Amino acid sequence: MHIESSQQPNVSVASDLLVIGAASATDDNLSALAAKCPSLGALLEARDFKGKSGSSVAFPALGSAAARDILIVGTGDGSHADITKAAAKAGKHARSLKAEHVCLSMGNAGAEAIEALSAGNYVFDTYLPEARKGKAIGTLTLCGMRISDSDIQRAQILMAAQSHVRDLVNGPPDDIHPQSLAAAAEALGSIDHVEVDVWDIDRCKAENCVGIEAVGRGSVHPGCMIHIKYRPPGAQAHIALVGKGVTFDAGGYSIKPSSGMQTMRCDMGGAGTMLGVAKAAAELGVPVAMDTFLGAVENLIDADAYKLGDILSYPNGVTVEIHNTDAEGRLVLADCLLRACKVEGVTHVVDAATLTGACVVAVGEDFTALFTKDDDLAGSLSSACDANSEGLWRLPLHAPYNDMLKSDYAQIKNVGGRSAGATTAALFLQHFVSDDVSWAHLDVAGSAFHDKGSAGSASGATGQMVRSLVAWLEGLAS
Ligand code: BES
Ligand code: MN
Ligand code: ZN
Repeated sequence: MHIESSQQPNVSVASDLLVIGAASATDDNLSALAAKCPSLGALLEARDFKGKSGSSVAFPALGSAAARDILIVGTGDGSHADITKAAAKAGKHARSLKAEHVCLSMGNAGAEAIEALSAGNYVFDTYLPEARKGKAIGTLTLCGMRISDSDIQRAQILMAAQSHVRDLVNGPPDDIHPQSLAAAAEALGSIDHVEVDVWDIDRCKAENCVGIEAVGRGSVHPGCMIHIKYRPPGAQAHIALVGKGVTFDAGGYSIKPSSGMQTMRCDMGGAGTMLGVAKAAAELGVPVAMDTFLGAVENLIDADAYKLGDILSYPNGVTVEIHNTDAEGRLVLADCLLRACKVEGVTHVVDAATLTGACVVAVGEDFTALFTKDDDLAGSLSSACDANSEGLWRLPLHAPYNDMLKSDYAQIKNVGGRSAGATTAALFLQHFVSDDVSWAHLDVAGSAFHDKGSAGSASGATGQMVRSLVAWLEGLAS
């Protein structure tokens, strides 16, 4: 998206769609239009437009402005959340109007308006017939807005990373399998100070990545461990990121019903998110050293697939009895967490995973569930999410529930009971985290992929958490 600024009155900019943000029906931002178009006040009254968050009025300009179409969106109280909502709605509206050139007039809103407009404009249309493809915004003119060039540049990088994550997560499982996910990661190797190393299945076996080996064994696409290493000059902190990259989760022999399997291409959402964070942080030159580990596998049924009753022996001595082959993500993450904690100098490890249906039941699609023992880390992650209007909700990492993981034949089993499913999954992961690092687990099962679209977003992958995690990293460096 090409972005330019203009100081002309908003009605004078030629475009396909003029988006005017207004906090009330008499907002100053509407005065140029009201002067050209005496019936505006009556229209806004008839549509009951009062500038409330979520409200909008759309109409063709028909000469009242240099634009073809006009959308007035309510900016509510002007908060980050309300601006985000308004701009996302405008982005989606632009897509439906095939508007290639958009003029955005949203007063003193910040770069969040550009980011949200872009997110709202996104659709995954690779496989749609030409007639249904619509048009993405090619040029955005910011009218009378005060956003610095460096903020615009930062927004461009974040928008590209978020869209890239959404493309990867939306991509059909035949396109996005462990090797193509590895190829997407390898492409980051062209960014300054980034190196990418992929352990193929033979190397994984040699290195005792027993989770990747067991879960990935049932697929013709062998599993792999992807390591993205970022070493910026003058790094002020060193952290590791971990992502669940199950490119398709059929459940294995504990097979899912068709309805539950339909969208299980989303199960590499955690890996996609962390790949996007690594890409954006490196392109922004954030001075934080980072090691990103993505465990990539397909969880299928095959004569060679892993079975219930199998016991995996991890290199830290933990043995795991398989009670459900559909609780596969934690087995793969265990391999990644063990490696992440071993990297010299790493003080914080954050993982993201579409780990449990229980998380979706608990917090729904608007929230990522957070598990950590570290209150400071919970605080900094929550602030970053608040500042980016992305939902994060802390759930208990309650040690006594470890009892639910007890096994008669191994140290632990890979599932707990019926209750607290998101917590027992997090407790399972904790067995693979060293005491000397601060760790947070993000269950993105609801937030990474939305079965239905909304006023400001297409259905499918959301790319949520990319912007918040980049902001969190920037915070570590300042
Ligand atoms: N990938 C699923 C979790 C999931 C569910 C993600 C819905 C996104 C939307 C995970 O591998 C899984 O199958 N979890 C099981 C765990 C159970 C067997 C303990 C679940 O949640 O049912
Ligand atoms: Mn599963
Ligand atoms: Zn899964």
